[in-house]
Amino acid sequence: MKLKSSIFTKLFSTYVFSSIAAFLIFSAVFYILFQNDLKQNFLNTLHAQHEQVELTLELAYKEGQNKDAIISTLGLMNDKDHRSIYLFDETGELLHVFSGMVEPLHIEKEVIEKALAGNPVNEFVNEKGQRIFLMVSPLEGGQDTFEEKVLVIALHGYDPVAKSIKGMFMLAGLITTVVTTCFLFILSNKLSSPLRSMNLVAMEYAKGNFDKKVEVKSNDEIGQLGDTLNHMAKELASLDLMRKEFVANVSHDMRSPLTSINGFIGAMLDGTIPERDQSRYLHLMKDETERLIKLVNDLLDIARIEAGQVSIYPQNYNVSEQIRSLIAKLEPQLLKQELEIELETYEEKDIYVFADKDRIDQVLGNLIQNAINFSPSKGLVTIRLSTIAKDVVISIKDHGPGIPKEELNYIWDRFFKVDKARSQKVGTGIGLSIVKHIVDLHGGAKIEVISEVGKGTVFTVTLPLEHKKVRE
Ligand SMILES: Nc1ncnc2c1ncn2[C@@H]1O[C@H](COP(=O)(O)OP(=O)(O)O)[C@@H](O)[C@H]1O
Ligand SMILES: [Mg+2]
Repeated sequence: MKLKSSIFTKLFSTYVFSSIAAFLIFSAVFYILFQNDLKQNFLNTLHAQHEQVELTLELAYKEGQNKDAIISTLGLMNDKDHRSIYLFDETGELLHVFSGMVEPLHIEKEVIEKALAGNPVNEFVNEKGQRIFLMVSPLEGGQDTFEEKVLVIALHGYDPVAKSIKGMFMLAGLITTVVTTCFLFILSNKLSSPLRSMNLVAMEYAKGNFDKKVEVKSNDEIGQLGDTLNHMAKELASLDLMRKEFVANVSHDMRSPLTSINGFIGAMLDGTIPERDQSRYLHLMKDETERLIKLVNDLLDIARIEAGQVSIYPQNYNVSEQIRSLIAKLEPQLLKQELEIELETYEEKDIYVFADKDRIDQVLGNLIQNAINFSPSKGLVTIRLSTIAKDVVISIKDHGPGIPKEELNYIWDRFFKVDKARSQKVGTGIGLSIVKHIVDLHGGAKIEVISEVGKGTVFTVTLPLEHKKVRE
């Protein structure tokens, strides 16, 4: 199996890519929001500090106060590890610095001018590879009394905080990626491994080895597929068996008439059969050829029906008459097997049905023939004809061996025979399959079977009653 195109790789890579993409998008959005929030937080702190500076200045400029001493308290109040405070006068001259930095920051003149013009500036500047946030704001509290006109607060601790957040994000991302990748690996494998084993089993089926079974472990679509495969294998195996048996049966059914015809012709040619007996043997040969023709016709019929090439042409016709003539045709066989057929009907007049006469001839002929074939000698076959509401019900009952309950569902399958040894001589197992197909092709018709092993079998065909013409 090529790993590149395997469903496992596809599933796994899709899952991993989509989960990583989802995580990246989520963290990007979250990170931006977080950054903004952080910035806002810092700004708030700086604004508070601005107010404090203004208050201190106000105090310093009050009459009778020691201005320099008060201003120097700004240095004490300031958290100099993280912040520096610069105060400028109106010419842009630096008046005071409170800072923990070794060298004070160089602050651009134009920034100060901007603030003097009344525009505060918030910006990042780069100082020795470190980002420093500057808040430059005019000091307006004291109007003209303050010498100090511009306050600059520089924030040094911005980058480390942002960095530590970034680090946390990366760590969370790494852990999530590893954990989800493990889960997805297990999940993809769980999804694709039954498919792989099904593929192997299906390849065995293709080789004709139907013993292999798919292990069904789940109840989902994959489990159902496994069930279907197992079911398919069972069906294929039985079809395969039936096909083999069918070939054997057909060959057998063809060989016996051909062998006897061949034997008779040989005997006639070499004079073993005297001329006066020849007509009798010719009749026997005719019977044998008729058996062959029937067999071939059955085969052709089932092939055409299964290919959907058979249409039904229903008409109103006398079914009572049809049954009588079917019985009459069977007379010689009945005599030979010492069987009796009785036709039971409580209707006084003949019954008419609306169906395809030739096809129903085939249906009833097959069912009666089966009843005869499976009857013990001197047995009785009863055909009952009745009407119920708008239906005509024809039942054919014999006192033969019956059909076991568990086999009843299969008798309509082509080539199916209940007792292979018993019916070896009589048929190929196609008859009932043809019967069922024809009945199904008739709308409004149905066929049912009731059977008891050792007692006998009843096949019941229901056909629609004739379509009466509306009288004018
Ligand atoms: N009347 C019956 N009594 C007992 N078994 C029957 C009867 N009719 C059909 N069967 C069973 O159903 C099988 C299929 O019947 P059919 O399709 O007519 O095949 P065939 O007659 O060629 O064997 C028969 O082989 C037989 O086992
Ligand atoms: Mg039959």
